[in-house]
Amino acid sequence: MKNLREIEDYAKANKIPILLPESRSILEELILKYQPQNILEIGTAIGFSGCLMLLLSTNSKLTTIEKSDDAIIVAKRNFEKSNLIERVTILQGDATEIIKSLNSQFDFIFLDGPKAQYLYQLPFLLNLLTKNGIILADNVLFRDMVKGDAPLNRRYKKIVINLRKFIQEVESNAELNSKILSIGDGLMIITKK
Ligand SMILES: C[S@@+](CC[C@H](N)C(=O)[O-])C[C@H]1O[C@@H](n2cnc3c(N)ncnc32)[C@H](O)[C@@H]1O
Repeated sequence: MKNLREIEDYAKANKIPILLPESRSILEELILKYQPQNILEIGTAIGFSGCLMLLLSTNSKLTTIEKSDDAIIVAKRNFEKSNLIERVTILQGDATEIIKSLNSQFDFIFLDGPKAQYLYQLPFLLNLLTKNGIILADNVLFRDMVKGDAPLNRRYKKIVINLRKFIQEVESNAELNSKILSIGDGLMIITKK
């Protein structure tokens, strides 16, 4: 896991947001327990969570979507250095558009891209998810603003309102089981029945 430490250090030095340590342990637990075969990730950044998932599930493949060209250059280098590049497909562009044209089935989805888009991405992701497949959505409690009714900061209003709607959509869908963990910035584990 030396490479992971280096990626983490690079992220810190360059102020690139990656998985928080406390959220990382939940992702690790899920990947170790379910050993997914085909993983989809929304929000590659520099490949930290992607490398982590591939290292913990040795038979898996990863499709990961990122809109930033600069991040993809670094992510590609990190997948190469970790000898994982052959198991990865990196798609560049807006994830909300790209997922509409994917036609594989995934048994694990790590949702960690633009928070205001989770709501719009949900129906497409559910189509791509296998029965008993899992979605782990990060940041669903966004800075403690999602629960409660304190006045919303203008800058984050759309994110918070859309995350509330996302949670409602998930919780009212009879085909899904879900729970929210108040860990890190809030994680939602969603399973398709
Ligand atoms: C929190 S970071 C991902 C961190 C990464 N999963 C990790 O833990 O190592 C979110 C990423 O989503 C990307 N992103 C934002 N909007 C996007 C979009 N519409 N489509 C694809 N990627 C997007 C950002 O550029 C950023 O790299």
